[in-house]
Amino acid sequence: MPVEPVFLATWRFGVDAARVGWKALHDGHSALDAIEAAGNLTEEDPAVNSVGYGGLPNAAGEVELDAAIMNGADHAAGSVGGLCRTRRPISVARRVMEKTPHVMLVGDNAMLFARKEGFPEANLLTDESRQRYEEWRKTQTDSDVAHFDLGPTSHVPPKPLATPDDHDTIGLCALDAHGNLAVGCTTSGMAWKVPGRVGDSPIIGSGLYVDNEIGGAAGTGHGDEMMKACVSYRVVMLMERGLTPTEACVETLRYLLRKRPPKLHNHYGAALIAIRKDGLYGGASTYSGFHAPDRLWQWASATSEEPVLNEGCYVTRETTLKMLG
Ligand code: GLY
Repeated sequence: MPVEPVFLATWRFGVDAARVGWKALHDGHSALDAIEAAGNLTEEDPAVNSVGYGGLPNAAGEVELDAAIMNGADHAAGSVGGLCRTRRPISVARRVMEKTPHVMLVGDNAMLFARKEGFPEANLLTDESRQRYEEWRKTQTDSDVAHFDLGPTSHVPPKPLATPDDHDTIGLCALDAHGNLAVGCTTSGMAWKVPGRVGDSPIIGSGLYVDNEIGGAAGTGHGDEMMKACVSYRVVMLMERGLTPTEACVETLRYLLRKRPPKLHNHYGAALIAIRKDGLYGGASTYSGFHAPDRLWQWASATSEEPVLNEGCYVTRETTLKMLG
């Protein structure tokens, strides 16, 4: 029986991705194709400084991309971590899924794989992202920066940490007209990260997870915290136990906050979107960490040509500040 297509994307800038994703679904393309098309749109947008071309670089000034894609029908998945000098990383992730017996390729060998698959070498820095890097670099002493690369203390956070809006991964969920689900994630990761750092986005179960029998989820936010709680897998498992997508996102974020010392809560934001196999969808974010209260987290949903912006729920350790949908 035909199903009404649905497309979800994290963040306000996800509206454009949701529009492209929904149109692909409406035109009869698969959920996977819609995820890839929407991911590519954001990856190629230099105005989005946390995804693909124009994304902010690591501490050494190199843009390192993470991306993943997953299919709900068969758990097929592909991902890349720390991919440099290559545009459209979610498409490289899809090639990993379709052309290798593996799920994840990282670093230089992911780049070599991309070249073999016809993705040309590309500069990922824009004038703006290079300038922002240079400004940030001036705030670091040589020892701060050297400390990224060397020695047993390199896990100590650099100062200052990336600002909270410098890791705005796009997470994507799609339900196609045949009832198939797919999810995706693509990001340049946390700005000024330690070279080689891979976040939650390309990790199956953390940045994204999907199962046609239940639903799918994708995340954005402080990946180093989110990946420790396998948040997307948790959302899908909670939906399996009967929670709505919104409830599952809220419960997962509350779990995440419960496991972290309260004094750390203002240092990171986390947000999730989710869709159930019947098309019901929702989203939620932590209240602290992302933005000032006048810039609360938003996400886009499309069930027709024109996507809408949603302001899901804002979750604190103790309460849910706002509940919609
Ligand atoms: N969620 C993106 C990152 O932390 O890398």
